[in-house]
Amino acid sequence: MEDFTQRGGKRDGAGRKKIREDVKRNKQWRLNVNEKELELLNKKFDKLKKQELVKKLIGEEHMKVVAVLNQKGGIGKTTSVRNIGRILNEKGKKVLLIDMDQQGNLTSSFGIDKRVLEYTIHDLLSNAANKDFSLSLKDVIINVETLDLVPSNIKLARADYNFGNVRGREYLLKEVLKDVEFDYDYCLIDCPPNLGIITDNALTASNKVIVPMKAEKFALEGINDLLDTVEDIQKFYNNELEILGVFLNQLKPRTNLHDVLTDEIKEYFGDKLFQTAIRDSIKIAEASALNQSITEYAPKSTGAEDYISLVQEILEREEK
Ligand SMILES: Nc1ncnc2c1ncn2[C@@H]1O[C@H](COP(=O)(O)OP(=O)(O)OP(=O)(O)O)[C@@H](O)[C@H]1O
Ligand SMILES: [Mg+2]
Repeated sequence: MEDFTQRGGKRDGAGRKKIREDVKRNKQWRLNVNEKELELLNKKFDKLKKQELVKKLIGEEHMKVVAVLNQKGGIGKTTSVRNIGRILNEKGKKVLLIDMDQQGNLTSSFGIDKRVLEYTIHDLLSNAANKDFSLSLKDVIINVETLDLVPSNIKLARADYNFGNVRGREYLLKEVLKDVEFDYDYCLIDCPPNLGIITDNALTASNKVIVPMKAEKFALEGINDLLDTVEDIQKFYNNELEILGVFLNQLKPRTNLHDVLTDEIKEYFGDKLFQTAIRDSIKIAEASALNQSITEYAPKSTGAEDYISLVQEILEREEK
């Protein structure tokens, strides 16, 4: 290919025209498109840039992405994403929920049969890995109640195999979410109970992390690994990431063991611990068994009261 830099000062009209033509041909060649397609691409690109600019000018805010994370199993991540999402929505926020767990529990928690999904988060991530943009996030979203959900199922178990070696593999979810970055107030991500490529993707795409914990023996075990992971992601992939807070779930107040463990957790996390703890509540368990949110199933229960108060604290911290 001709080296344009060697043309020196000879930038007359004909020379410039030639350069422009060469550049255009070169671009066409690289994109493997014809002139008409190239025009269309340019138009699309301009439109996207304009939309983004307009949104920035009128001060429309970026969606806030919050990962709910604890690599311990059965700690209340999915239940919390389900309930926090619903309450944020009841408070007038537009919410997107992402199921990033191969168990697909968040998906099932809305009564969706996860075995027969047309598309899941796995399709979006692997398309992003393969630079295939034929499927958009909006094609995968399922509207549930007044929320939007990106579902998941066992297919996500192949994530490591399918894109574990792809360059930029930590950024796939971030890339996927760009499609809707001005469409929602909040995006909540339900993380799986491990610290692998999926969790890395969730953290790389997030602004904030919320950690549910149970006041039980070994509660702090694994927390160092979790904090190390958050620190690594901050350092290497996402320096905006912050821990918004830690909250206690399934608390049995006024039992000696819980009081001792709660004090220990308080000491460890200081003001990162939310004031609100979610008490152990049969209504919460029943609501999740019936695929309902707690505010829908038992709006006057302690469970509903606790989650509403937690959401209030989340919003206060967020808006600080
Ligand atoms: N505050 C609570 N009171 C009573 N039961 C609860 C409470 N929080 C969660 N549960 C119950 O605990 C079980 C585990 O909760 P959940 O599935 O949300 O945990 P998880 O952290 O998402 O688990 P996994 O790591 O497997 O994804 C569920 O049956 C849920 O109904
Ligand atoms: Mg879960």
